[in-house]
Amino acid sequence: MSALESVVTPIRKVGEGFEKFTRRDEVFDFLKPVNHPLIDTRHNIMLYMEGVSVSFDGFKAINDLNLYIKQGELRCIIGPNGAGKTTMMDIITGKTRPDQGKVWLGSKTNLLTMSEAEIANAGVGRKFQQPTVFESLTVWNNLELAMTGTRSVWSTFTAKLTGEQSDEIDGVLSLIGLEQCRNLLAGVLSHGQKQWLEIGMLLMQKPKLLLVDEPVTGMTHQEMDRTAELLKSLAGKHSVVVVEHDMEFVRSIADQVTVLHQGHVLAEGNMDQIQSHPEVKRVYLGE
Ligand SMILES: Nc1ncnc2c1ncn2[C@@H]1O[C@H](COP(=O)(O)OP(=O)(O)OP(=O)(O)O)[C@@H](O)[C@H]1O
Ligand SMILES: [Mg+2]
Repeated sequence: MSALESVVTPIRKVGEGFEKFTRRDEVFDFLKPVNHPLIDTRHNIMLYMEGVSVSFDGFKAINDLNLYIKQGELRCIIGPNGAGKTTMMDIITGKTRPDQGKVWLGSKTNLLTMSEAEIANAGVGRKFQQPTVFESLTVWNNLELAMTGTRSVWSTFTAKLTGEQSDEIDGVLSLIGLEQCRNLLAGVLSHGQKQWLEIGMLLMQKPKLLLVDEPVTGMTHQEMDRTAELLKSLAGKHSVVVVEHDMEFVRSIADQVTVLHQGHVLAEGNMDQIQSHPEVKRVYLGE
């Protein structure tokens, strides 16, 4: 190839590539609307999982899972140990990538194309089992730090909050029932109070969808009752998915319950339907 050719050939190649995009007889994927064709926005689906599967070393932890959570719905997910409940949350938050299937937030956000951080920013909040609050900061500062926007650790201690931001923190404090504890260090809170503070920190980020894994483990009965009230009060404004083993607790908050078994939905319905479902009784309730 001559010196001239070696310069012209790549340019011609780029030109050919461009021609491909100017063809009129074909609509390219990137020009198509991003709305998922299967999502029915009329029914206000906030989380859409369809045909989702994931294997770990050949073992199918999630197997053709379909799950649809509506806007403002509070859904409980139950199922035996190893049923895939936590893995399902890992898939929604981008921690684990499925081998197959679709996972969308609303009708415009394909979660499978996004990083964990992008998914969190898009409005998916997750509460892990162990509370992770900053023990050496006050309750108020914990909420302040969790606020969306550009507030850095440094600005938390140097910049003044606007009135609106203070009101927002006050609102969350009252929702989680910690108004009286606002100036206490988070480290001195009870286990239950720390859990509520962490839920409060997630709420500061105004999530559309909140995922809560086993929230009442280690709580007293009184704390469980308070947590039930809190989660119920979040429904409506947020879609909330709660994984929990404690059936008494599930009954106290559940509207719709999904039973997961071997990575697949075994049954779905209200608590009475679930508790009288023969397969559920056999595999989960041990009857
Ligand atoms: N990263 C991983 N690597 C290998 N196996 C995994 C991984 N994550 C989960 N598993 C396996 O997948 C299965 C489902 O686990 P998962 O933790 O989702 O169950 P679970 O329903 O949350 O159970 P539990 O009620 O005990 O919390 C289990 O058999 C588990 O050992
Ligand atoms: Mg789990």
